[in-house]
Amino acid sequence: MSYNREDYIRIKAEFSQKYLRAQNRATERRAELYAAIPEVRKLDGMLSQTGMEIMAVIRGGKDTEEQIAAIRQRNRELLAKRAELLREHGYPEDYSDVQYDCDKCGDTGFVNTKMCDCMKRALIAAGYESSGLGALIRTQSFDNFSLDYYRVGGANYDAMRRAAEGLRRFAESFDRTAYANYLLIGGTGLGKTHLSTAVAKTVIERGFDVLYVSAVGMISDFEAKRFNDGNGMKHDPDRYADAELLIIDDLGTEVSNQFTLSCLYDLLNTRINNRRCTFINTNLAFRELEARYNERITSRLLGEYSPILFSGTDIRRQKIQRVK
Ligand SMILES: Nc1ncnc2c1ncn2[C@@H]1O[C@H](COP(=O)(O)OP(=O)(O)OP(=O)(O)O)[C@@H](O)[C@H]1O
Ligand SMILES: [Mg+2]
Ligand SMILES: [Zn+2]
Repeated sequence: MSYNREDYIRIKAEFSQKYLRAQNRATERRAELYAAIPEVRKLDGMLSQTGMEIMAVIRGGKDTEEQIAAIRQRNRELLAKRAELLREHGYPEDYSDVQYDCDKCGDTGFVNTKMCDCMKRALIAAGYESSGLGALIRTQSFDNFSLDYYRVGGANYDAMRRAAEGLRRFAESFDRTAYANYLLIGGTGLGKTHLSTAVAKTVIERGFDVLYVSAVGMISDFEAKRFNDGNGMKHDPDRYADAELLIIDDLGTEVSNQFTLSCLYDLLNTRINNRRCTFINTNLAFRELEARYNERITSRLLGEYSPILFSGTDIRRQKIQRVK
């Protein structure tokens, strides 16, 4: 697992703050108790001696077990007294205990050296955020991807089933060594975005850094970086090169000129060289890709990407018709 670096730094800082807040809240509450019930301060003073008393007994080395049992017994009595005092004054017993959001890790994010589930969850939520998937993450997943839409005219059901199953396996087994590139080709409304979003979601949940972007959005970030000091950038283009999975949606809808072609070429080439997985979705057929992009780009798309041909009848329309 190698979450997005910025997310990781931010979440770690948030956990440190959470931890300190919990400590401070407990300190404040303790002060409040001392002001309201002065006897509690005395009890706490005595309770805080317990450890040292036990140490002294151990060092003394005589009748240790009996003495320790006695200290423990007194400790229990002091605690009971304290609890009773608090109750009498209308406070819950644990009023000044440190109350963490997560008892497992005490809001440190780690249990021994292992990352706690609460921190993993926070990182996944941050991963959704920073992936650029926005609302798609909530509406498109493998769970609501149905093959039924490919039973109608024009669809190659078996090919779509193989594609969906293959991508699901790819996503569910994604790890550091994963390397595959896919070119999702087909007409509008056939599920390219849906299926690639489902892959993205699964890979984020496995703890990897995923970036989803439209070709138009990506080019606009490259332009902002190159011509406008980065102003208005949604994602730094460096992240396009680094993300462990990059999904470029709607290739072919961006403007095409020398600059955009060279950005695209550099990006695809860098990712291939670094063995980073990339998905590209497009409405353009091979021949149209060849006409639009230069040889260096198309030869990479043809040579390094596995094509997945989407077929069928516009699912947006099928859904509307089913509702009617
Ligand atoms: N197999 C499917 N099961 C359920 N819903 C689907 C399926 N495929 C697509 N959809 C839904 O149909 C709509 C269109 O799908 P999607 O956006 O993935 O198409 P697309 O191939 O990306 O089209 P475009 O080329 O226009 O971008 C979306 O709302 C999507 O959630
Ligand atoms: Mg789409
Ligand atoms: Zn935790």
